[in-house]
Amino acid sequence: MLAEIVAVIDDELVGHVGVSHCWLDARQELVDVAMLSPLSALPSKQSHGIGTALVTAAIEAARELGRPALFLEGSPEFYGRRGFTGASTFGFEAPSRRTPEAAFQVVPFDSRADWMTGRVVYPRRVVAARLCGAARSRLGVAPRSCSRGTSRLNDTSNACSIDWVGAHLCLATRMAT
Ligand SMILES: CC(C)(COP(=O)(O)OP(=O)(O)OC[C@H]1O[C@@H](n2cnc3c(N)ncnc32)[C@H](O)[C@@H]1OP(=O)(O)O)[C@@H](O)C(=O)NCCC(=O)NCCS
Repeated sequence: MLAEIVAVIDDELVGHVGVSHCWLDARQELVDVAMLSPLSALPSKQSHGIGTALVTAAIEAARELGRPALFLEGSPEFYGRRGFTGASTFGFEAPSRRTPEAAFQVVPFDSRADWMTGRVVYPRRVVAARLCGAARSRLGVAPRSCSRGTSRLNDTSNACSIDWVGAHLCLATRMAT
């Protein structure tokens, strides 16, 4: 994981997002890029802006890490309103044939050069965990129920408070060194 960000409200862990490493198999060379996964908000706290705040923070984290692009597979309805756009329009190819085109999205950063196109390649552990492609019948639509199982963070250094959801939401980021 390149970065993990948790959302905390009143000392309660209410959300988590991860920014992971992946590659872009460009013709010129293999490029280190990033993918947003996983993302979760505590069901009882959903629809209060936590997911949006975490996506925004993940985009900033990927940008700060110097990765030229941040990819994901997810709902275009959700991510399309939060800075992501269809990745195939930039010449990127999805990592799996099971990835619905609409679900394959990207935020390209200024550091991306025009030659940086090609197929996204996931690390083996991501593929082994079946985190690529659509494993469900409703392609590209993420389930709305999710436990907080992925929301864990040991090191909350670099914690920063942001003005969001009544200024009570704290985002704590751990960046890889
Ligand atoms: C997706 C998720 C993180 C959003 O968290 P959140 O804190 O509720 O997000 P926000 O409050 O910022 O935004 C809520 C909006 O997202 C919409 N939304 C939530 N899940 C959605 C989905 N799967 N597809 C489309 N829209 C979705 C809500 O309807 C709501 O829309 P509105 O603003 O028009 O009312 C949360 O629903 C969740 O944990 N879902 C289960 C895990 C998951 O699907 N993760 C994403 C995997 S790609």
